[in-house]
Amino acid sequence: MKRSRLVAGNWKMHGSRASIAALLDELVKANPSGCAVCAPFPYLAQVAERLRGTRIAWGAQNVSEHAQGAYTGEVSAAMLADLGCRYVIVGHSERRQLYGETDALAAAKFAAVKAAGMTPILCVGETLKERDAGRTEAVVAQQLDAVLEKNSFENSVLAYEPVWAIGTGRNATPEQAQAVHAFLRKKLPQGTSILYGGSVKPQNAAAIFAMPDVDGGLIGGASLVAGDFLNIVKAASI
Ligand code: PGA
Repeated sequence: MKRSRLVAGNWKMHGSRASIAALLDELVKANPSGCAVCAPFPYLAQVAERLRGTRIAWGAQNVSEHAQGAYTGEVSAAMLADLGCRYVIVGHSERRQLYGETDALAAAKFAAVKAAGMTPILCVGETLKERDAGRTEAVVAQQLDAVLEKNSFENSVLAYEPVWAIGTGRNATPEQAQAVHAFLRKKLPQGTSILYGGSVKPQNAAAIFAMPDVDGGLIGGASLVAGDFLNIVKAASI
C-alpha cells in the first residue's frame, strides 16, 4: 500500500476568530490536498465551516480519554467526531511535559479517537538528554509500544518529534529524522504514514521530506503563516 503524504499544522494555543479567518482564507485560496490544520477547541466549528467542501482537512490537538460524563472542562472524541473532525493529535510532548500525560494516558486517548472513527496522530520523541545518552530508540519505542500493546495502528498516523527540535529553530537533520523513522516503521503496519515534526520551515522541508521514510510533517510555528505553511505543503507533494 502506498503511504499517503500529510502535512498537518498544529496551531497550539494561538489565534483569534479574526486571525484564523484570515489564515483560512489564504489556505482555501490555494486549496492544496494532503494537508490538515489542528485548531484550538473553541475555533473548531469555525474551521469546520470554512473548510467544508475544500481539500483541506482539520483536526483537534487533544481529547479526553473518557467517552462521556462528569469531566469538567474535557472534550470527548464523540464531540469532535460530531463536528466532522478527522484528526486528533495524541501524546504531543507539550502534553507529556507540561500536563504530565503518561504513555498509558496517550494510549487511552488514542483508543478513544479510534473508537470514534477519527485518525489519531500519535507523537513520540526524545529529549536532548535522552538523545545524548544514546537512548533515542529506547524512548520512542517505549512511547509507541504503550499504544501498540492496546491498539491496532491501522488507519493511524505517527509523528516523530524530537523534543529538542520543537519550537527551538533547531531541526533534526534529514539523516537523523530518517534513522528514527526507519526504526519506528519496523513496528508499524505497512502503509503507515510517519511525519517528522520540530522546526520544519519552508527552507528545510524539502530536504527532510526527501528522506525515504518521512511521509510529511507536523508543523507548529510555521503553520501560523499561510505562505510558509503552503510552501511546506508544496514541498511534501514533490
Ligand atoms: P514547531 O512545532 O514546528 O514550532 O517546532 C512542532 C510541533 O510541536 O508539532
